[in-house]
Order: sequence, then structure tokens, then C-alpha cells
Amino acid sequence: MRMSSKEIVSFREFEDLLIKATNTSNEGITISSMDQPDRPLVFVNEGFERLTGYSKEEVIGKNCRFLQGNNTDKSPVEELRRAIKNGEQTTVELLNYKKDGTPFWNRLSITPLKDKNGITTHYVGVQSDITELRETQKSLKEANKELALYQEKMNFELEEARRVQNFILPGSYPKNTQVQFASIYEPMDQIGGDFYDIIEIEKGIYGILIADVTGHGIQAALLTFMTSFAFKNTAIQTTSTAELVSATNGKLYNKMPRGSFVTMFYAIYDSNDRTLTYTQAGHPEGYLIRTSSKEVIALTSQSPLVGAFSSDSVIYTESKIQLKIGDKILLYTDAILEVWNSQDIMMNKEEFTSFLLKNSHLSIQELLESIKSFGLSYSGKTTFNDDFTMVGFQVLD
Ligand SMILES: Cc1cc2nc3c(=O)[nH]c(=O)nc-3n(C[C@H](O)[C@H](O)[C@H](O)COP(=O)(O)O)c2cc1C
Repeated sequence: MRMSSKEIVSFREFEDLLIKATNTSNEGITISSMDQPDRPLVFVNEGFERLTGYSKEEVIGKNCRFLQGNNTDKSPVEELRRAIKNGEQTTVELLNYKKDGTPFWNRLSITPLKDKNGITTHYVGVQSDITELRETQKSLKEANKELALYQEKMNFELEEARRVQNFILPGSYPKNTQVQFASIYEPMDQIGGDFYDIIEIEKGIYGILIADVTGHGIQAALLTFMTSFAFKNTAIQTTSTAELVSATNGKLYNKMPRGSFVTMFYAIYDSNDRTLTYTQAGHPEGYLIRTSSKEVIALTSQSPLVGAFSSDSVIYTESKIQLKIGDKILLYTDAILEVWNSQDIMMNKEEFTSFLLKNSHLSIQELLESIKSFGLSYSGKTTFNDDFTMVGFQVLD
């Protein structure tokens, strides 16, 4: 048999329970009468007494605005006035003062109590001390502001570093009517670990380098400087690609941070006899795209990477190939092969080389642009996951 609430507790007991429950609350709970002049408080709980330091006796009969003071903002007070005038509920945060003058942040929520005719007879107010919360919010805001400033500064520095890094890239291609150079360079961050170079070693003999330094960001960028300087210092002294890569390795070994290394592909094209000598050092193979016979030939020499091993322990080898008019040479870093399609399948070399074959009729610059679009459409993205660099040339008449 179920008992009604009347049978469980009497109205008097229920009233006592309600007051007890109200008094255990940490929040202030207040009731103001709306039909008495100046809307005085008719009830305050013990939470309100603890929060403000005022006793019941001191505040009953007064309007609760006595908690406001010199630094209380006008706008939340206006909002309270507006809500009361319209018989609406509202919540504001405003600065109030305890009896001893200590300021505190009050999150005040007021809700109208209406009679059966919809007339507001009373308002219930709930006061919470949110001083600590406000302080935390304030210091969080300040920390965020500092972080934003720091970020702005970092971005500026990275932009500057990028500007400086562009100096190690060739400003223009060597001029020769028998060879047309082309390149694309897009670092993933503002500064990256890829770079390339094209230099004239002797009349009609060109050194073409593509390199990928481990990592990204500032450290990688600094290593690209080191590698570029090490390369440039020796490049014009030799027409042996193995000798150049070996000398670069000798200069970088011991100076690179532990675990860092460079992969590179260095080719020397002699436009006088159309020969290409090359060294592949830990880097993806290059490609010769032979338009005349519709062939794509991998250029490999499988030498170790650069900067990680002492010169005594590594041997760099070179290969040589005869080029023909119309041949195109493509060197690249691994970003183009590290793309995944919507089924999470990585592009394989066959797909890549058959694309090269299909587009072998394009000019070298057009070919590079189309490879980039091919990579992006393969992954369905607008950027690559890694620095994206390609350099190449075409043998002209
Ligand atoms: C139930 C209730 C509780 C209130 N509690 C507070 C309070 O804790 N602190 C405060 O500054 N104002 C409080 N107010 C608001 C003021 O009593 C008053 O409504 C406000 O200052 C706007 O009116 P005024 O322009 O006449 O001062 C409360 C109002 C009501 C109805």
C-alpha cells in the first residue's frame, strides 16, 4: 500500500525540512517581496549569511542592493532592473561587497514567483561567490593573450627564417638553349627540410641537387643551411657526383645532431655531350622520362645517406647515362609518394611512373605542375603531408 506525502510528513515537518535543506546550501538563497515598497528581502538562508557576513536580522526588510558599492558595474544592475520590471528570470555577474567591505564576484540568478493570475508576487535569488573562478578566468585570459603574442612573434620569426631560407634556393635557372630547368618547392611548415639547387659548374655543365633533411621546422631549416653550404663549397670543384656527395658527407658528419641525416640525389648534366652522371644517396630514385620511346627509366646508384656515417665507413658510387633530345629528368622528395587515397592505400611507384609516361609529352614545368595536381587529387587534400619539392630538366634541341 502506497502512502501519500501528507501521511509521511506533516506540513510543519515539511517546512522545517525545506528550511534545513535551504540552510545547508553553500549558495545564498533569498526571497524578495514584490508587493512591498522597495521590494525588500523577506527571507535569507544561512548560506547568504555566511557569504556576505550579514545576519538575517540586519537584512530582512531591506532591498538587496545594499551589497553593491563603488566599483559595481552599472550594466548588470540595469539588467536586474529590466528583468524585474518585466517579471522575467535573469542571471548576472556583478561585484558586491561583504559586511567587512571585502569585494566578491556574485553570480546572481533571480527568478519570479507568480500567483495564479500571473502577477509576480516574489522573486527568488540565488547568490554564488565566483571570485576564484573569475580570477582563474582572468589569469587564463592573460595567459592566452601572452600565448597569442608569443605565437605572433614565432610566426614572424618563422616568416623571416623562411625568407632567409629562400636564399639557398636558386634565384633563377642557368641560361642555356639546350636545356630547360624547372622546379616546385613547397615547405609544409613555414620553413622546411627540403631544398634543391641548380648550379653551373663549367660552361654547359650543370649540377642539380635535391636534398631532404630529417624533420621539419627550425632545426631542419638550420640543417638545410649547413647542407647547402657544404654542397656549394665543393660543387664547382668536381664533376664527379660521388666525390661531391662524399665531400658533403665528410663536412656534415659529426656536425649534425645525433639521429639527423640528409638524403640527396645529385646529378651532373653535361649539355656538351648530353651525359648525366648521378649519385642517389639514401634518396628516392630519379626518373628519366624518354618521350621518344615512351619509357620511364629509374635512375639509381644506391649509396648511403649523408651526414650519419664517417667518411671512412661509406662509399658513394655514381652512374652515368646518355641522354637524348626530348629526355626529361625528374628528381623529387618523398612527399609525392607518401599520399594515401580514400581507401587508405598509398600511391605505389607503378601508378606514379605510369602517370609520368602518360604525361611525358608535357613540357618539364607543366609535368611538375601536373604531378603536383595528381598527388593532391590522389589524396583528395589541398596540401601534402610533407615538404613538397621537385626539380627537373628537359634536353632541348
Ligand atoms: C531576489 C533578489 C535578490 C537580489 N540579490 C542581489 C544581490 O545579491 N546583490 C545585488 O547587488 N543585487 C541583488 N538584487 C538586485 C537589487 O535588489 C535590485 O533589484 C537591483 O539593484 C536593481 O534595482 P535598483 O535600480 O532599484 O537598485 C536582488 C534582487 C532580487 C529580486
